[in-house]
Amino acid sequence: MKIVAVLGSPRPQGNSNTLARAFLKAAGEQGAEITEYLLNQMNFQGCQGCGGCKTKSQICILEDDLTPVLQAVRDADLLVLASPVYFGDISGQMKCFFDRTYSYFNPDFSCRMPPGKKAVMVLVQANPDPDNFNDIFPRYQRWFDRYGFAPAHLLRVTGVRDLGEIASKTAALDAAAALARELVAP
Ligand SMILES: Cc1cc2nc3c(=O)[nH]c(=O)nc-3n(C[C@H](O)[C@H](O)[C@H](O)COP(=O)(O)O)c2cc1C
Repeated sequence: MKIVAVLGSPRPQGNSNTLARAFLKAAGEQGAEITEYLLNQMNFQGCQGCGGCKTKSQICILEDDLTPVLQAVRDADLLVLASPVYFGDISGQMKCFFDRTYSYFNPDFSCRMPPGKKAVMVLVQANPDPDNFNDIFPRYQRWFDRYGFAPAHLLRVTGVRDLGEIASKTAALDAAAALARELVAP
């Protein structure tokens, strides 16, 4: 199984990346092939709304560091998307990634990718109340549905702000590993 992880925190060892890596480590132990991309270390633009992916090309016509990422997601069996919660939403880096996946639509908005990919969204926030910002995953669920990721799973931790703080959330880290074993096991 090919797993692609797109990590949206600007902190390489950030809490959301750490939670994602708990999943990835367990997935690797099950034999999955893993490719990790740190968006903040890449040079790329947001979608320019040029329509080139509808009129000229089957892929996004921008050529930058996101080009191979967009291709890797197309080729993946399982996608991990991880982000800190910033102002009640995903990070700007991750939002730019989402916008560039407009290129996965045909002109009639059918999907260019084959269905049946699995997905895991990882969200981490400082606010300890799980009722706060619990709208984020349902909003992006539509993105997963439109692109044939079925089902999309959520790994979410609340109440961690400082770097490394997520290490104390052992139940959540264990749950991430358990989900990996469930999704990757033959
Ligand atoms: C610009 C910015 C905006 C943030 N907005 C929120 C927010 O709206 N709600 C929240 O609970 N935490 C917010 N936080 C806190 C982060 O979600 C929290 O520190 C998280 O653990 C960071 O994850 P990371 O280590 O993966 O980057 C914000 C942090 C920053 C830097």
